[in-house]
Amino acid sequence: MSRRVCCLLVLACAAALCRAAVPSPASSGSSGSSGSGPRQQPAAGQAEKPSGPKQDALFGDGSTAPSSVLMITMGGTRSHKVPFMALGRALVQKGHNVSFISAFPPARDTPEEPGFEEVTPLGLVLYIRNYTDWDLVGARFRGEEPVPWDQALAYTYETCDAMLSDPETQQFLHSGRHFDLLILDGAYPECAVGLAHHFNAPFMYINTVGFHLASVSTAGSPVPYATTPFLSRSFTDKMTLLQRAENSLYHTLFFFFNNWLMTPLVQNVLNKHFPDVPTIAKLTSNVSFILQNAHHTVSYSRPYLPNVAEIACIHCREARPLSKELDEFVRGGKGNGFIFVSMGSSVRATNMPELLRLLFLRVFAQLPYQVLWKWEFGSESMPDLPPNVRLERWLPQQDLLGHPKIVAFLTHGGLLSMFETVYHGVPVVTLPVFCDHDANSAKAQDDGYAIQLELQQLTADDLLTSLKAVIQDPKYRAAAKHRQTILRDQRQSPLETAVYWTEYVLRHRGAEHLQAPVRHMPFYQWALLDVIAVYALLVYVTFKVVKIMASFAYRCIITPPPPVATKKSVTNPVALANGIANGLANGKKRD
Ligand SMILES: *[C@@H]1O[C@H](CO)[C@@H](O)[C@H](O)[C@H]1NC(C)=O
Ligand SMILES: *[C@@H]1O[C@H](CO)[C@@H](O)[C@H](O)[C@H]1NC(C)=O
Ligand SMILES: *[C@@H]1O[C@H](CO)[C@@H](O)[C@H](O)[C@H]1NC(C)=O
Repeated sequence: MSRRVCCLLVLACAAALCRAAVPSPASSGSSGSSGSGPRQQPAAGQAEKPSGPKQDALFGDGSTAPSSVLMITMGGTRSHKVPFMALGRALVQKGHNVSFISAFPPARDTPEEPGFEEVTPLGLVLYIRNYTDWDLVGARFRGEEPVPWDQALAYTYETCDAMLSDPETQQFLHSGRHFDLLILDGAYPECAVGLAHHFNAPFMYINTVGFHLASVSTAGSPVPYATTPFLSRSFTDKMTLLQRAENSLYHTLFFFFNNWLMTPLVQNVLNKHFPDVPTIAKLTSNVSFILQNAHHTVSYSRPYLPNVAEIACIHCREARPLSKELDEFVRGGKGNGFIFVSMGSSVRATNMPELLRLLFLRVFAQLPYQVLWKWEFGSESMPDLPPNVRLERWLPQQDLLGHPKIVAFLTHGGLLSMFETVYHGVPVVTLPVFCDHDANSAKAQDDGYAIQLELQQLTADDLLTSLKAVIQDPKYRAAAKHRQTILRDQRQSPLETAVYWTEYVLRHRGAEHLQAPVRHMPFYQWALLDVIAVYALLVYVTFKVVKIMASFAYRCIITPPPPVATKKSVTNPVALANGIANGLANGKKRD
């Protein structure tokens, strides 16, 4: 019986403990992307009410004094620049000065933009140019790891040293310039936070790789492994037990890679260049705001603290007319429309294995559509080109995706390409290569506007069938149009959202009130491991006490008294009771 009571007790305690132990991200607020509440116009009917002007005074959006902003991306591919350029130019239009450090110099004929300055330290430029002279498509095609982990590790500290040792950077650092705010790349900010410390300014991120959530997690927003697919796996937010096991393993390994291998090595480089720099963990947990390059319509629904806003498609825009020549080509052929083929700016198609190139050509030749293929060497490099295929060194991707004659997009599944294809409502076939391409593709396929293929097992038949499917089965285009509608249904454009929060952080000098204490909590406190330990101890002690008491009570009341103590007296409980009664009666008589 005591055992049953104890069981109940343990269950009750366990239930209470579980309630206490489950972290409730929902309660920490997640108004990230909707942050413009205060700027909302009063509804038409309320505009006349006397409270109108008073509300304006209370909730005015305030004007931001012209400020000086430094943006830095240490990302290894040109695409990391895209969201920065969009935000930077918008800030310049609002009267701020922007400097932008990256490894990718502007094209030579770029006109001067007053208030906007690009800094591209030669040491950094050359290091990344050399590092990224890779054959990623070929590696994936052959079933190799496109960027081995030791090379990825070397990238982090070598690129940091390459930038900080560069004379141009040194001059920039010691020019006595002042910055009110730094905007860093949330995908690998560990080196650039050293500059935020140097300039003694608050900093925020554009988290360019939306599926890379380390910086979001460091700032305190929960990143549950159960629903967050690791960026280089083709999982979605609905995983089987085995997938969750694999997914959690990748997240955990990456956590150790990040915090135990990479961060100490980058810290060494920072210590060398900035003698009094705090630890990277202290610096990165202090980030003021994160502009997350994601959106729940094209990535997943996630719990974010109020210092995160989603800005996917910050660079998206309506299509502009094509050049006459291109327009004639895409409308030409059989007049059925065209397929746009691009493996992105980070994946050099010219390094592509010959076998794969031939496979592409064989498939394209069989299609009743025009094919426009972004290929760095231009048409003269391929004498065996079928008449419906045209190669171009550079193509205006958004103008093509927004063209009325486009029928499909064959892509590597880069994040910006996926955003653009949704923005313009075009179905895709993806051939993921590295980094986040797999997770991006899995999401697109889950949303029904994509077919994801594996380069390593690719056959001409697969490619042909998939391209025909996304073009001829209307469900793919309908799914793309649906995504387009919900992505575009936002209170503010992503660019307006980004500018609003950047100026907000400027106005409130880092906006510390948006940050949650959870960012400074050790893991065991955040996960309530210490609390679980306290309750476990309590349950154990209670169990022990109840057990002792129960056995004591059992022995006193129910068990017959041991023979030793009752040698002379009665052994039968009834007789015992009678005996006691007699004794009492005798006592009374004596009185
Ligand atoms: C922006 O740059 C211009 C030209 O260099 C300078 O005159 C102005 O003071 C700067 N504004 C701020 C806020 O730093
Ligand atoms: C370029 O990369 C190779 C191998 O990754 C390395 O051995 C070489 O030193 C690098 N060159 C420069 C100039 O960084
Ligand atoms: C964190 O940010 C606040 C406000 O921006 C600043 O005062 C503080 O020194 C920062 N802490 C570290 C460790 O950089």
